[in-house]
Amino acid sequence: MPPSNTAAWITAEKANPLELKPAPYVQPAANQIVIKNLAVALNLVDWSRQDLGASLFGWTKYPAIFGSDVSGTVEKVGSSVTRLKLGDRVVAHADETTNNDPSQGAFQNYVVVDSHMASRIPDSLSYESASVIPLCVSTAACALFQKDTLALQFPSSPPKPPTGKTLLVWSGASGVGSNAIQLATAAGYEVVTTCSPKNNDFVKSIGATLAFDYNSPTIVFDLISALKDKTMAGGFAVGNGSPTPVIEIISKLNGTKFVASANPNIGSPPPDDIGFKFVFGTSLRENEVGPAIYENFLTKALADGTFLAKPDADVVGHGLSDIQKGLDILKKGVSAKKIVISLA
Ligand SMILES: NC(=O)c1ccc[n+]([C@@H]2O[C@H](COP(=O)([O-])OP(=O)(O)OC[C@H]3O[C@@H](n4cnc5c(N)ncnc54)[C@H](OP(=O)(O)O)[C@@H]3O)[C@@H](O)[C@H]2O)c1
Repeated sequence: MPPSNTAAWITAEKANPLELKPAPYVQPAANQIVIKNLAVALNLVDWSRQDLGASLFGWTKYPAIFGSDVSGTVEKVGSSVTRLKLGDRVVAHADETTNNDPSQGAFQNYVVVDSHMASRIPDSLSYESASVIPLCVSTAACALFQKDTLALQFPSSPPKPPTGKTLLVWSGASGVGSNAIQLATAAGYEVVTTCSPKNNDFVKSIGATLAFDYNSPTIVFDLISALKDKTMAGGFAVGNGSPTPVIEIISKLNGTKFVASANPNIGSPPPDDIGFKFVFGTSLRENEVGPAIYENFLTKALADGTFLAKPDADVVGHGLSDIQKGLDILKKGVSAKKIVISLA
């Protein structure tokens, strides 16, 4: 007899609040696992899909179960899964955003994920802390490592030896940015970043060598001056409005003239000599980057303590019924923290 399952459903386009109702307990396909979900982290895409309806991910059918970031224990493994076993403590990227399959939305007690998008976590890491990682590390990994983006070499634990190249990450204190800083550092790249001055210590504590205030009127000039003698590995534009300054800066520096962006709004098109790509943070599920991160890197790096679950979890609720409250808090904006709901 499978366990009974409950989800925080979005019952119709723009429906608010989410509604707690029974959900099917779905068996995993051969390459999948079922996770007993003990913590979820919330992302901008979750509340903006709820608010914007069909203008974002117009393929969404309702009722739906949203959510990307899960952490919990392995409840069931598909027939071809050998790397993970029942009871393992894991963190995973649930990917309802691309397939709209309710069984793969994070906001429920039992969620189905591809096994290559899940990593074991050490006993020292709580489910709540671990849950901050998935969508942000995935988005950063797509930008940094896919062949059609910055194509950096993969990270390792211990970190790869220095390549002598520098990556610019704009918005280093964001969820995506703080994961990008750590991935790039582990892959052997120096990282220079931007953030509010209050987050300088934070971004340096996770590997950035220099931090600049993105609100400074001289930010573009300051970064070009600081980086003029470096060999760049490119730029990663994370926050709103960042593609334009990152493109301008990278166009004036030596090295790789390519900008990856987590943000589709780039303003005017980049100059012809600058490569530019908007990344969708789930595309690694379909290519070699997903296994490189979730199978080969994260489990060891988290156990070694060379990769940290950042920014820190701010646990604002307990139980599926608090997810709507968490989305409303996140909508007001966060700085160097991640909104998390405990389901334990
Ligand atoms: N393409 C994808 O698949 C994908 C996936 C996930 C996220 N994203 C996008 O990536 C961006 C970051 O997402 P997130 O979840 O990492 O966000 P987040 O953690 O909620 O971002 C908050 C951080 O953004 C920084 N920030 C705020 N306004 C900024 C500005 N005008 N310029 C530069 N930085 C600014 C703040 O830094 P300080 O506190 O230091 O000021 C704050 O710490 C969002 O635009 C999101 O839509 C895209």
